[in-house]
Amino acid sequence: MSLPSHHPFSLEYTADPRPIFASIHEDNRFVPVEDMNAVLVHGYDAVRAFCDHPAMSRNPIDAGLGDDAASKVRAERWPTLEHSMTSASLAREDGGNLIRELLAPDFRPGMIRKMSDTVNEVVETVCSPLKSESDVDVVKLVQEVPLRVISRLLGIDETTRDAQMFLTCAPDYFRGLNPISGDGDRDKAEAAAVTMLDILGRTVETRRSKPEEDLVTQVIEFANKRGDVDPQDLVRALVILVAAGTDTTRLSTTLAVKTLLSHPQATNILRDDRSKVKNAVMECLRYEGPTKYLVRASTEDVEFEGQTIPKQTLVLLSIMGAGWDPRVFEKPEVFDIDRELRGSLSFGFGAGYCLGVHLARLQVGTLLEYFLEHLPQSASFDESQIGWDPGNLFLREITSMPVHLR
Ligand code: HEM
Repeated sequence: MSLPSHHPFSLEYTADPRPIFASIHEDNRFVPVEDMNAVLVHGYDAVRAFCDHPAMSRNPIDAGLGDDAASKVRAERWPTLEHSMTSASLAREDGGNLIRELLAPDFRPGMIRKMSDTVNEVVETVCSPLKSESDVDVVKLVQEVPLRVISRLLGIDETTRDAQMFLTCAPDYFRGLNPISGDGDRDKAEAAAVTMLDILGRTVETRRSKPEEDLVTQVIEFANKRGDVDPQDLVRALVILVAAGTDTTRLSTTLAVKTLLSHPQATNILRDDRSKVKNAVMECLRYEGPTKYLVRASTEDVEFEGQTIPKQTLVLLSIMGAGWDPRVFEKPEVFDIDRELRGSLSFGFGAGYCLGVHLARLQVGTLLEYFLEHLPQSASFDESQIGWDPGNLFLREITSMPVHLR
């Protein structure tokens, strides 16, 4: 049975939701998806408000979605996933969030700027086939960049099997986390979570006895100072970091390359004036964002500008939809590298705002500069050859994007 075009799991919506945005933005209506007990939200004001709304939980189980019997069955079959590993599960009673407390100091702009040489070196190594090959798959080409960067940050040797395991584990885990994922995805996510907990748990143990100059050691020191951090929660925070930072960066870069190849004029301007790359990264994220939906669940009836979302509904927030809201971003269909993008929601909003924003912008910016330098003028791609996996609720998952170079 084919899914309606606006359905989150339809190929049409995953590959190009923009035609659907246009009709939804006419009246900014919320769109119900009955088979998921979900509501889709695409208007900028509502997405921004619901990102960080007191009646919109980031943890669907807390919001009462799903009955007790079902959650008992899940806890038996997927114990690691069910002892939920989303950042919401690391919320503290005092309203803080453990992941932010532990990791935020290492993700400040100053600390990330220090990583600029590392990111450059990783991009140079990983993306060198661009200089000589006649064809590349952009997804495969760039996927090792975030993985290697994060491994270096954590102090895990990027050439080891452990680091390579993140390549499959991070996407499997991220994908299976969503509250309506199928059993197969959950099985994979459970296995991925167990593997990542094992790898990062071992790394933490090693650093406890032999500190190094890396993120893991700093996080341990910080947790020791606090004195009340459950050692398992510390490892969970690191797992969430790996999962949140790899796929998003890979997909953002792939989509940005797609956008640049489709806009040769803007690309030529960027080739000549690299000072515009920073803003162009944000415009690429608006124009073709990697995030399909941020997931929330309503804990009570929520009224917004004349529309009501009933209690215990899955609320899916389209960041890309918000970036295409013509009330906020004039002529959203125009890719404009000089566009004023203050207020962009590409990295979320409020208390859950992306912790890795500076690292993400550094990596995607460095990758784009490398592509601008080494992508031949003759490079082209065929839209129909792009592979999509529509079954991912969080991300617009591109599985392959072949580009003919020379
Ligand atoms: C271009 C790449 C990226 C994009 C588009 C992106 C986007 C986002 C968005 C939209 C959120 C908010 C999620 C929500 O409210 O439900 C988020 C959260 C988060 N991101 Fe990113 N992200 C990127 C890269 C990274 C990187 C590189 C890291 C770290 C290495 C990272 C770490 C995190 C973490 C830990 C959170 C959860 C924060 C919390 O819940 O307190 N992200 N990201």
